[in-house]
Amino acid sequence: MQPAARAAALLAAMSPSDKLALLSGVDPHAALGVADGPLYVGYVPGNPRLCIPALTPNDGPAGIADTQIGTTAFPAPIAQAATWDPDLQRRLGQALGLEAWEKGIDLLLAPDVNIARVPENGRNFEAFGEDPFLSAQTAVAVIAGIQQNPVIATVKHFAVNSQETNRYYVSSNVDDRTLHEIYLPPFAAAVGQGHVGAVMCAYGLVNGVQSCQNPQFLTTVLRDEWHFRGFVVSDWGATWTTVQAANAGLDLEMPGGRYFTAPLAQAVASGSVTNQTVDHMTESILTSMFAQGLFDHPPQPLADVSSADVSTSADQHVALEVAEESTVLLKNAPRTLPLRLGGGGTIAVIGAPAGFGDLRPYIAGGGSAYLGGVDPVTPLQALAERAARAGDSVITADGTDPSAAAAIARQASVAIVFAYDQEREGQDRTDLSLPSGQDQLIEQVAQANPNTVVVLDTGGPVLMPWLGQVSAVVEAWYPGEQDGNAVAAILFGDVNPSGRLPQTFPPSTAAVPASSSDQWPGSGDGQDAAFSEGLDVGYRWYDAYKVTPLFPFGYGLSYTSFAYSHLRIARSGAHLAVSFTVRNTGARAGAEVAQLYVDDPAAAGEPPKQLQGYQRVYLRPGRSARLTIALTRRSFSVWDTASQSWKTTPGLYRILVGASSRDIRLRGFVRK
Ligand code: BGC
Repeated sequence: MQPAARAAALLAAMSPSDKLALLSGVDPHAALGVADGPLYVGYVPGNPRLCIPALTPNDGPAGIADTQIGTTAFPAPIAQAATWDPDLQRRLGQALGLEAWEKGIDLLLAPDVNIARVPENGRNFEAFGEDPFLSAQTAVAVIAGIQQNPVIATVKHFAVNSQETNRYYVSSNVDDRTLHEIYLPPFAAAVGQGHVGAVMCAYGLVNGVQSCQNPQFLTTVLRDEWHFRGFVVSDWGATWTTVQAANAGLDLEMPGGRYFTAPLAQAVASGSVTNQTVDHMTESILTSMFAQGLFDHPPQPLADVSSADVSTSADQHVALEVAEESTVLLKNAPRTLPLRLGGGGTIAVIGAPAGFGDLRPYIAGGGSAYLGGVDPVTPLQALAERAARAGDSVITADGTDPSAAAAIARQASVAIVFAYDQEREGQDRTDLSLPSGQDQLIEQVAQANPNTVVVLDTGGPVLMPWLGQVSAVVEAWYPGEQDGNAVAAILFGDVNPSGRLPQTFPPSTAAVPASSSDQWPGSGDGQDAAFSEGLDVGYRWYDAYKVTPLFPFGYGLSYTSFAYSHLRIARSGAHLAVSFTVRNTGARAGAEVAQLYVDDPAAAGEPPKQLQGYQRVYLRPGRSARLTIALTRRSFSVWDTASQSWKTTPGLYRILVGASSRDIRLRGFVRK
């Protein structure tokens, strides 16, 4: 029987109170009889008489947060996106989902697909960057992996939850076209391609309406246009009313206890919410539970979640692969990286994230996605081990005193400075500079030793006033528990860097798409954020206004080089097949991420170019591969507000293929 039919049959056996009990959560500690300590972030009791398992939600997108003992800390979502590798992202999701299930979790509160509109967003690390297409494809892959297990994935936060300042009350005032072209596509793909089981509605408002009681979002768009058959869960405390929320399409109030309990029963009694609505809410939840196999493989909620060690060496290997593949080489002066030491060289390892003090903040972001219980491999450990094997030595400075660090750097053949930012849920960064005097630290070290390499453990873009003074820069994001192993492999060249930026790095705080306070954090005490930049989000804005970024979207260097040739555009049924050859022209094996952008005819009124496809390819030196990227009707469509549908503007479309949004190697045309 199909999940919907099983849900309908079960619904017929349920009393009104059985149904009501499924529509909101209770306190997990009380329900499981546990005094305190880490547990699930919510709990919807099961119904033993009807064999309905409990819902045991937990975060999050980079590992099982909170119950984080004996689980794997994967790299942050921004890093997951930086791999541009759907197969690896699927494997990460699969490992994450299995660890969740083994910890008794059947509702995983991931992935977060909110678009990186402002780099200051405190949750920048937690989502997949600034581009709707890359975010969508990354989400589809991660969801597919999670849901290979009897676990429901939750795409969040629906919708336009792109800042933390005043996050409960800010209204993101965004036009309909921008909404459909920039902010909604990752959610649409999660539903349509990813078959995600749950959607979490967001805290804030969009155009003056709270997301968890917005009928346009929760019914018109989600159910009518996208045919979503799963359930909508509120963000924790994002339910504002009973009647409006239930009638708009919210199914599950979390963490619960306020609106979808007795007040919902009263609303049904008074006729302001119909029985059919309650049936639909219940059925939506049951349908996802059946579809994901929760009835067939119910999780075993644990009273002591810490006791189970579910992190396997296979999972740790996935975490390592993601950390390696996501690392972006931003700068590499000749003969800097990979490190060519061996036999008596001295490496100065400097800065807190190398492994001095409490490393955890730098391997993961803060808030509900925080990973607090693992012992990461520190860069210091890994580099010292690697150096010892080669006959080199490591000297160190924790970086708290820049002059002491400079003195250490002066004695070394190479100085490696690890720097961090601290992003967290609940607050935006106030500026994009590295905190705690780290710019000064890097400058002083670079003055002492011109052969300075900076490794950034940041959840997003930072300013780099010292860029001209250092020899190399590596963006390692929040790398998860395999931190040191990954960074040593990259720096010593065991692994050739192949991560690409999922987000533009701005040259200054002023040169960003949303630079006025009306745009971010918003006017009227932050109640209204004007999305007046419209479609010009991320690289779209830099291209439209011809602003040179510090590092462009899609950018990343390699220890080898690649050449592009032989572009061919052919019709293949309803699709357009764009094929081309990529050749490794350097001396080392490595992976390239070929990117396809479409430049619409001027009449379409779109930004200069937009990502519509990509493919990662691994090539040995001298080898080449023929890649084919399929473009669909949607690749050539814009959202037409009048007809509320996708339309193609007739005219000439430029097909741009290259190594980043600012490094186009091949050009072709298509007429539509
Ligand atoms: C966050 C969600 C998270 C939830 C449960 C909220 O504060 O916004 O992303 O899933 O808490 O921890």
